[in-house]
Amino acid sequence: MEQVSISRLGENEGREAEVWGWVYNKRSSGGLIFLQLRDGSGFCQAVVDEGGVDPAVWEDAKKITMESSVKVGGAVKAHPKEEGVYELQVTSLAIVQLAEEYPIAKKDHGIEFLLDNRHLWLRSSRQWAIMRIRDTIINALMEWLNQNGFIKIDSPILTPTSCEDTTELFELDYFDLGKAYLSQSGQLYIEAAIFAHGSVYDFGPVFRAEKSKTRRHLTEFWMLDAEMAWVTHEESMKIQEALISYVVSRVIEVNRAELTILERDVSALEKVVAPFYLLTHREAVKKLQEMGSDISEDQDLGGDDETKLSQVYDKPIFIEKYPAKIKAFYMKRDPEDGERALCSDLLAPEGYGEIIGGSQREDDYDILVARLKEYSLKRKDFEWYLDLRKYGSVPHSGFGIGLERLVGWICGTKHVRETIPFPRLINRLNP
Ligand code: 4AD
Ligand code: MG
Repeated sequence: MEQVSISRLGENEGREAEVWGWVYNKRSSGGLIFLQLRDGSGFCQAVVDEGGVDPAVWEDAKKITMESSVKVGGAVKAHPKEEGVYELQVTSLAIVQLAEEYPIAKKDHGIEFLLDNRHLWLRSSRQWAIMRIRDTIINALMEWLNQNGFIKIDSPILTPTSCEDTTELFELDYFDLGKAYLSQSGQLYIEAAIFAHGSVYDFGPVFRAEKSKTRRHLTEFWMLDAEMAWVTHEESMKIQEALISYVVSRVIEVNRAELTILERDVSALEKVVAPFYLLTHREAVKKLQEMGSDISEDQDLGGDDETKLSQVYDKPIFIEKYPAKIKAFYMKRDPEDGERALCSDLLAPEGYGEIIGGSQREDDYDILVARLKEYSLKRKDFEWYLDLRKYGSVPHSGFGIGLERLVGWICGTKHVRETIPFPRLINRLNP
């Protein structure tokens, strides 16, 4: 009998086929045993009829435990009630491994228990759906960028200095060269690559030793940095808007089944089309103050502020021109207000908050030298970065997308710990 993936069972209606997978549930009723199967591509039911199978098959079916691996063969039939759903009328059954009692039961487990068993939890339908959507998002991001003139260029993970806040660096000893740090963002390196390639992006794990224990923070997460020569802050926001709209539309197209498992409100995602909302930081602060926040004009938005603000919008919101002092050294200042940076954060709606941080970069050599001093950063560590402003400097902009925040919002999952296969949090390194 030919092995067929569950997602292609329909093409084999009326024929005999074999499904190789795992039994995620089982129930019996009279002389029937219903095996719920999963093979990675989907879910289906296999019906074992005591009267219609070999006694040995029936005995095996009775013996099967949850999560046993099996090869189940039989006739492919359309489900009597559910359209597009197919099941197997079992004729053969081979137990590949009879699983021991599975620790994750149907009952509600606490989150710590589930995270301790992340290696098994990944099999559950919700986690399956989130990882599939994560995969679609990664592919869609790269598809859009590749179709729009970007090339992927990789940035290093071991670095001699910081890119963002120096207080959030993971540090290690690096042979005779002193300290090395795990990358917080590949931005500075891909800036170098625009002078060779124009528009580039990187995609990889980054690390932040942030002591934040919130639903938005991981210590290791995946970042996609994009950087574009000749692109202004305003143009960069247009690019982000087009990219995010494309990604969301791809998930709606590809992952209907997964969104249903997650009970995600698809109509909320369907609203995610350009143009997004745009507020200056000052306007956002004013709005937040009206909503009862004690934020002031010289402050960054706190987590609660982001939640509150993004709850009142039905599409992503750009907040632009933050106070320069609270942002990174490399951001260009607003020519109309030297106290403000030409930067933006993109907040996802429905209370999700920041998913992208971006800015136009300072492209003037002397100003950048002065900035490094202001930020108490050692010039010698940034000589190579300063070189970029010495040899053919151009206006340029870029942004960084936090993959897990993006996945969390699109999946409607409140905490980022479920959006990465093996989350790293300040209090979790296992499994
Ligand atoms: O805003 P951030 O810190 O920006 C940068 O690192 C820039 N160098 C990016 C660039 O311009 N190329 O981080 C970018 C995004 C945030 O918007 C957020 O989505 C995500 O990374 N992020 C985190 N995600 C999970 N856990 C954390 N601790 C995160 N910190 C930032
Ligand atoms: Mg940020």
